[in-house]
Amino acid sequence: MTAKTNGLDTRRAWDEMRNQRMRPMNIGYDPEFRAKLAEDHSAIARYNDYEYGRKAIDALGGILDENSRVLEIGAGPGTLTIPLAAKVKQVVVIESSEVAVRSLKKNLEARGLGNVEIVAKNWMDAGERELGGGFDLVVCSHFLWQMKDLEEHLEKMEAASMQYCAVIQPAGRDDMAKEMWTRITGERYEGEFDPDADYFAYLLLRQLGRLVDVRIMNYGAERDFEQEVRYIASFIGKYVEVDHHTKDVIEQYVSSKGLSMEPQSAVVMWWKIP
Ligand SMILES: C[S@@+](CC[C@H](N)C(=O)[O-])C[C@H]1O[C@@H](n2cnc3c(N)ncnc32)[C@H](O)[C@@H]1O
Repeated sequence: MTAKTNGLDTRRAWDEMRNQRMRPMNIGYDPEFRAKLAEDHSAIARYNDYEYGRKAIDALGGILDENSRVLEIGAGPGTLTIPLAAKVKQVVVIESSEVAVRSLKKNLEARGLGNVEIVAKNWMDAGERELGGGFDLVVCSHFLWQMKDLEEHLEKMEAASMQYCAVIQPAGRDDMAKEMWTRITGERYEGEFDPDADYFAYLLLRQLGRLVDVRIMNYGAERDFEQEVRYIASFIGKYVEVDHHTKDVIEQYVSSKGLSMEPQSAVVMWWKIP
């Protein structure tokens, strides 16, 4: 699979933006931070009966039914997997993080869902044994930045699918995290940790002649005080060390603003493979 036009510029933009998105976190105030953040992700996935996943499946419309077999890449705690498993015949998940696999198993058990097979493996190392299952849909949600080579990723998705592929990617970041970033770094926020990556996939797919269906879905996410502080710290910590002092600054800011449910959006795109 080779994109035809202006591939070099697109690749350079992808690499530069990905370097920002994938910067490691420097958190000094809590040695348990990562474990707590993983639990936060799991709680947010469950928010409002897996609203994010339910809305994504609604947006995918008629391409799924009770006989569908689905491959999901990078499932995390089951944000999409849980509502997907409730709708289709079988889901195979490829997930490389042990922590995520543990959360996913817990969430599946809580729902009594027995039709999900978990392959604890790096997607890029997955071969015929894992991918030869004749899937009706191959999907990834909030995953694109994990891939160094987006074209290779899309190509691998297509190779594993018999019918459809889909990409779901959140759009935009909450105001609180962005405002806090400016306060702490003194710089104007210019999208450094926005999750948006869908337009790269769209461009590549259209250049390859795929006709891509696109829908926007809206969903909510509510965090408690500690979760909100960790959420903000996880982005700020990519740029400055979040020590006890910086954590106090974040806490004061969150206290002064108060907690509210910010509506969020995600882009859902899918296409039929040739
Ligand atoms: C940002 S989370 C998204 C989780 C979930 N899909 C969602 O929509 O909330 C990305 C997930 O992909 C997993 N992941 C990252 N790189 C991976 C790879 N190469 N192979 C398999 N899983 C991977 C991470 O462990 C993490 O659970």
